[in-house]
Amino acid sequence: MKVFIVYCHPSEDSFTKNMCDAFIKGLTDSGNEYIISDLYKMGFQTDMTEEEYLRDAYYRNMPNVAEDVLLEQVKINSADAIAFIYPVFWTEAPAKLVGWFDRVWSYGFAYGEKTMKVLDKALILCSAGNPIERLEETGLLDSMKRVMLGDRLFGRAKQMDFIVFDNTSRENELREKNWDANLQKAYEIGKDFCKDK
Ligand SMILES: Cc1cc2nc3c(=O)[nH]c(=O)nc-3n(C[C@H](O)[C@H](O)[C@H](O)COP(=O)(O)O)c2cc1C
Repeated sequence: MKVFIVYCHPSEDSFTKNMCDAFIKGLTDSGNEYIISDLYKMGFQTDMTEEEYLRDAYYRNMPNVAEDVLLEQVKINSADAIAFIYPVFWTEAPAKLVGWFDRVWSYGFAYGEKTMKVLDKALILCSAGNPIERLEETGLLDSMKRVMLGDRLFGRAKQMDFIVFDNTSRENELREKNWDANLQKAYEIGKDFCKDK
């Protein structure tokens, strides 16, 4: 299976980078291939231009999408599955990934007369500073899931999963304590990701 990984973290000095590497190792150890867009490293432009806004807002197929957007769309349609890997910033994906959706989920690709394929699987793998109990009690986990799975990925993948690695902020002693176990878990998730395909 070919997995397209959309990875978004500003620093390699992060739990998220280690989590991404462990996930990739699991994927490849189980015989799968992957392609990756590392949005910060690529310097992916995430502000919509006015031209792009007007194209999407008026439900137009013209002008053609920009070359960098097209490249991302080609990666999606060449893959069987997609995985988004990022840290939670203010109960959302980092702005750079949100902007990636603004531009890549364009009219005529992700909605309207869409040319985006329905992927076999979609996975969200994110890290959060808060304990999962707090994210659940406050409804914040639910809102993150609704936005990613109920809106952005809705109808675009046959199976979807949203997995949070919690307690990962630097002042939390559980970050270090759970480090190895969490990376092992990320590895297993990668290993099992394409199992039933
Ligand atoms: C700008 C910013 C905003 C954050 N917002 C949240 C948040 O809303 N909820 C949460 O649980 N953690 C939040 N965090 C914590 C990060 O999710 C956490 O630091 C990160 O997952 C730890 O992993 P890292 O080493 O990969 O950065 C935020 C961190 C930063 C830097």
